[in-house]
Amino acid sequence: MSYNLLKGKKGIIFGALDERSIAWRTALRCHEEGAELVLSNAPVAMRMGEINKLAEIVNAPVIACDVSSNEDVTNLITKTMEHFGGGVDFILHSIGMSINVRKGKHYTEIDYGFNAKSLDISAMSLHRVLATAMKLDAINDWGSVVALTYIAAQRVFPDYNEMADAKALLESVSRSFGYHYGVKKHVRVNTISQSPVKTTAGSGVKGFDGFLEYAEKMSPLGNASADDCANYCVMMFSDMTKMVTMQNLFHDGGFSFTGVTEAVINKM
Ligand SMILES: NC(=O)c1ccc[n+]([C@@H]2O[C@H](COP(=O)([O-])OP(=O)(O)OC[C@H]3O[C@@H](n4cnc5c(N)ncnc54)[C@H](O)[C@@H]3O)[C@@H](O)[C@H]2O)c1
Repeated sequence: MSYNLLKGKKGIIFGALDERSIAWRTALRCHEEGAELVLSNAPVAMRMGEINKLAEIVNAPVIACDVSSNEDVTNLITKTMEHFGGGVDFILHSIGMSINVRKGKHYTEIDYGFNAKSLDISAMSLHRVLATAMKLDAINDWGSVVALTYIAAQRVFPDYNEMADAKALLESVSRSFGYHYGVKKHVRVNTISQSPVKTTAGSGVKGFDGFLEYAEKMSPLGNASADDCANYCVMMFSDMTKMVTMQNLFHDGGFSFTGVTEAVINKM
């Protein structure tokens, strides 16, 4: 059902790889709610071609951008402003990549070169996008930026590896930049800390299926799905949440504040 919550709003959605992606689900919901979109992903992800299916459904151009490249980010933001004839009202940062996980390196033995790249893609890219947008005045007054994160930034999930550090950095950038963009242009910046979801990035975590089931049993409402997350993003991009900024918002069916559940005890 559509409530026209984003009617007249324009936004950039990063990170739709395939139809399981949280960004994909969010693009569909934003479109249903009346937003006009630009879609973006890394050139390597584009080659898989799936994003063009989404682009057709939501009637949006696709602009390639490796978020670790200043040049790519500047090009994306410039082309987006040309496309819309002005700035955007919202941005979804739905990007994660751990090179050490990919290479099978244990947290205690990570390669620091890979680590620098992982932190750059997964966390500092939010800074790069915001700094470029600020320089080009690409986000309209009272705009809203959301980045997706995970509770491993606060608590230890051993197999989440260096991504735990990346998410802690991402949340910090969101707060720090949220301050500066808020003062300058009333732009709000938040992170949504989402339940586990079986996507390409999610499945990269070792033992993901067992972990998904554990989270389900540890959450009074169960795990929040990618579609639930899309609804929350719509709310965060809408004018209903104008005064919310610099927050890490848990969207996890209650997992983050649950000590233990009967379902977990019964399993012991
Ligand atoms: N799936 C989960 O369990 C879960 C839980 C909490 C948070 N998150 C976060 O949600 C976000 C989206 O992940 P997802 O689960 O939808 O998986 P996904 O694999 O569908 O999305 C990750 C995206 O990051 C993109 N990406 C990687 N390197 C890039 C680069 N250099 N430049 C531009 N884009 C790049 C990929 O192409 C992909 O589209 C990530 O930040 C992830 O950490 C996921």
